[in-house]
Amino acid sequence: MTEKNVLSTSESYLIIEKITDFICPQGPHEEETNWMDMEKVIVIDFGGQYNQLVARRVRECNVYCEIYSYRTDIGQIRAMNPKGIILTGGPNSCYGADAPTCTKELFELGIPVLGLCYGAQVMMHVLGGKVESAPVREYGKTEVMVDVSSGLFYNVSPKTLCWMSHFDYISRVAPGFDIVGHTADCPVAAAENVEKKLYAIQFHPEVLHTQEGTKILDNFVRGICGCGGTWRMDSFVEDSIRMLREKVGNGKVLCALSGGVDSSVAAVMLAKAIGKQLTCVFVDHGLLRKNEGDEVEAVFGPDGPYKLNFIRVNAQERFYNKLSGVTDPEQKRKLIGEEFIRVFEEEAGKIGAVDFLVQGTIYPDVVESGFGGESVVIKSHHNVGGLPDCVDFKEIIEPLRNLFKDEVRKAGLELAIPEHLVFRQPFPGPGLGIRIIGEVTAEKVRIVQDADAIYREEIAKAGLDREIGQYFAALTNMQSVGVMGDERTYDYAVALRAVNTVDFMTAESAEVPFEVLQTVMGRIINEVRGVNRVFYDLTSKPPGTIEFE
Ligand code: XMP
Repeated sequence: MTEKNVLSTSESYLIIEKITDFICPQGPHEEETNWMDMEKVIVIDFGGQYNQLVARRVRECNVYCEIYSYRTDIGQIRAMNPKGIILTGGPNSCYGADAPTCTKELFELGIPVLGLCYGAQVMMHVLGGKVESAPVREYGKTEVMVDVSSGLFYNVSPKTLCWMSHFDYISRVAPGFDIVGHTADCPVAAAENVEKKLYAIQFHPEVLHTQEGTKILDNFVRGICGCGGTWRMDSFVEDSIRMLREKVGNGKVLCALSGGVDSSVAAVMLAKAIGKQLTCVFVDHGLLRKNEGDEVEAVFGPDGPYKLNFIRVNAQERFYNKLSGVTDPEQKRKLIGEEFIRVFEEEAGKIGAVDFLVQGTIYPDVVESGFGGESVVIKSHHNVGGLPDCVDFKEIIEPLRNLFKDEVRKAGLELAIPEHLVFRQPFPGPGLGIRIIGEVTAEKVRIVQDADAIYREEIAKAGLDREIGQYFAALTNMQSVGVMGDERTYDYAVALRAVNTVDFMTAESAEVPFEVLQTVMGRIINEVRGVNRVFYDLTSKPPGTIEFE
């Protein structure tokens, strides 16, 4: 057993800021031929919770990287011709009956392989070493002593702090391997077979707590695998624009624009590629943050820099009517989603047949939908719904399909999209509809919009806006007695939420300085009619969720 897998069904919401999810959860995918020839490293996923982090860290070394399941056929791996292979951690014991494993052939391709945690144990197990239950379980930051010089630890301190999480350990290395590092409790923290270019480390270099983790990964992908490190966002953006132009030709393209990072970056990329052949439909469901509809229009509308065919549908009343009297959060989500499709359908009907429909799918969506790694089950319900009958189109285009979220933001900056759009907070598709407890009304939307705008303004003023993972104001359904001036009030309580999270699956409440909270409280009570109390939500996830619904 190596690491605890903390997976929850609500991580299915990891697809953030994409109202487009309501329309096409999954579709036919672009041919990937253009990515096949690129210099790349592949990550073989054994079900570890940090699999995506591994790939992200490799890309931080400017090396392109993709994730594949451990079930991937060896022939397919060979055909991809990777410069290196990384085996991830995983929750199993590699000597268990049905444990995920790989064939010996993987280590005989002549391609450098780096095993991490479970991946290291699998490597030893398959190649004739011994893995067994550890007398002492290691968890957390642990000092690793690097005993002999190794390419993997080039320029790494002889004593380096690493993140460990394992129940099993390598008690005997496989023939041909030398031990390179150890910890107080783990005799084989790192081992290598230089001749065969095989490397095994018991810790997790991808986790930020491993202080020199990125250096170790860089040593592997560039030093040992010989990758050039040429994966850059500017060239990605340029190449994508050129490829999109070729692909679309004279075709017509339709994009459902939410104003979120993903759909905005996808839209601008297409706008640069094909200009007026692109039509963007932006549905304002009245559940957006304060002034958001106008801000999106200012950028993408007729007076903005991109001169797109931009259609804004002001459907606020329709949504409020639908939500009238509805208090159950799941039902609200459903109604908002369905109404969104209906509105979009009407607009699409007016536009008529198009050749392509744009989706802002990003790489985590791909991996978590089972197209890449091992996370097949987790996001399966994003596959429900199928393709929209409502749009008459031939093919889906997903220009961001290979990018992680931080790379999407980098691409956005390359495209000169305003920073306030590029660094926007995650925002759920159903919008404020799920940040208002109980019935949604226009009045409650106004209250939460105003309170949230103040909160965001003060967080930015305090310089915390890029530090906190996600923060927003929500409206509780609680009214209570207060006093303002000489008057008795009976008004709502606003809840402030701020969390830090790596992956949105788990989260902890952020330590917002008390003075900042007090300023926000004071301003909300004074400036937002209908509010007489402000709470700060301390709940972590689990047991709470990030949203407040
Ligand atoms: P929870 O509340 O489940 O949220 O802890 C995890 C992350 O997902 C976002 N979220 C959504 N994103 N559509 C989305 O695109 C949704 O319906 C949705 N619900 C939650 C949430 O903002 C947080 O970032």
